[in-house]
Amino acid sequence: MPKTKLGSTPIQLSHIRVPSLVEKTIRGRIEIDQHAADSGYEGDRAFFVVDLGEVYKQHRRWKTELPQVQPYYAVKCNPDPRLVLFLSKLGIGFDCASVDEMKLVLNLVPDPSRIIFSNPCKSDYSIRFAADAGVRMMSFDNLDELDKIKKFYPDAHLLLRIFASDPTALVHLESKYGASLDSTKTLLKHAFTLKLTVVGVSFHVGSGAGDVAAIGQAVKDSSLVLEEARSVGFKPHILNVGGGFQDSNFELISNALRTALQGEVLENITIIAEPGRYFARSAYTLICTVIGRRQVCNGSMDMIYQNDGVYGNFLNVIIEKEAIAPSMVLLINQKERQLTTRLYSIWGPTCDSTDCVNPSSRFGTEIMAGDWLIYKNMGGSVPNTPL
Ligand SMILES: Cc1ncc(COP(=O)(O)O)c(C=O)c1O
Repeated sequence: MPKTKLGSTPIQLSHIRVPSLVEKTIRGRIEIDQHAADSGYEGDRAFFVVDLGEVYKQHRRWKTELPQVQPYYAVKCNPDPRLVLFLSKLGIGFDCASVDEMKLVLNLVPDPSRIIFSNPCKSDYSIRFAADAGVRMMSFDNLDELDKIKKFYPDAHLLLRIFASDPTALVHLESKYGASLDSTKTLLKHAFTLKLTVVGVSFHVGSGAGDVAAIGQAVKDSSLVLEEARSVGFKPHILNVGGGFQDSNFELISNALRTALQGEVLENITIIAEPGRYFARSAYTLICTVIGRRQVCNGSMDMIYQNDGVYGNFLNVIIEKEAIAPSMVLLINQKERQLTTRLYSIWGPTCDSTDCVNPSSRFGTEIMAGDWLIYKNMGGSVPNTPL
């Protein structure tokens, strides 16, 4: 097999190009890491390069497709403060699921009316925190939650989260949250007896949704529950259509949503949504370095180990069963290598065998420790705030 000596300049092998500004930033950062490594600097962490232009593009797309739907970004998806601040400047609100998320947003955007505490099962402390901070809108889906809210925040404005399910979704939420339609009347009556204020209905068909029928059904069910709320004595004025929007089929799902909304009597109802991955995913490129390699002698494919895995920023390998492969490789190691197509399994840095990022990934070259692997579309499930 031909052997080629490579120079010290990183070589881009893939034809799938990262946008040039992002690529330039990656190269600059890698150079800093390489130089700093000489003086003992802890430069072996994976890092993100963020392109907020992508977020702006998604915002424009949303405005074109769903101008009548006000988005509240789901902070749980990626709590990067730069992203939150940027979205706030675009006029977007925030869906927070915890005290930490509310604190993060309030620090950057000191306006509690732009937050929905969208968690149907909250701790006493978190409800008290919302009351003190003035985060008034929150969701519920069970009787006990209503009693808790009565005790700690009786002035809250409540959204009744109802069951909704897209069987094709990548992440199913209906097994955890959402009141079944045969329980909504009882819940609404209990809220009325407690003198609480129900202002609307919410649903989430699941993350990574793709079934237009599921959206249609959820809007229909919501319309029925809004009518139930009126019959009990409330004056509901909000429908929250949740998240689940994806890059790949946004126009299709938006069209289905628009059609469903038109088909129901929703006069004087403000429509809002809680997109997460839609805004965050494409803006984030993750750069990992190969920290080790194991050549397997029995004919199986060789293994490479990188400095991030499923317990870090590759959580989606487990949650969404996503097949994540690098879109580009930067060859740093100056040793001779074989430039032929080969397969590697890619592993994270922990000692856990579950920490497999990709069981079989194709490369156009031999990979060595010190090379860099570049992963696009990694902003959708970020467990920690990126550095
Ligand atoms: C209540 C709620 N809203 C919004 C989202 C964001 O969903 P997605 O990232 O699919 O848009 C989630 C995700 O888990 C959620 O649970």
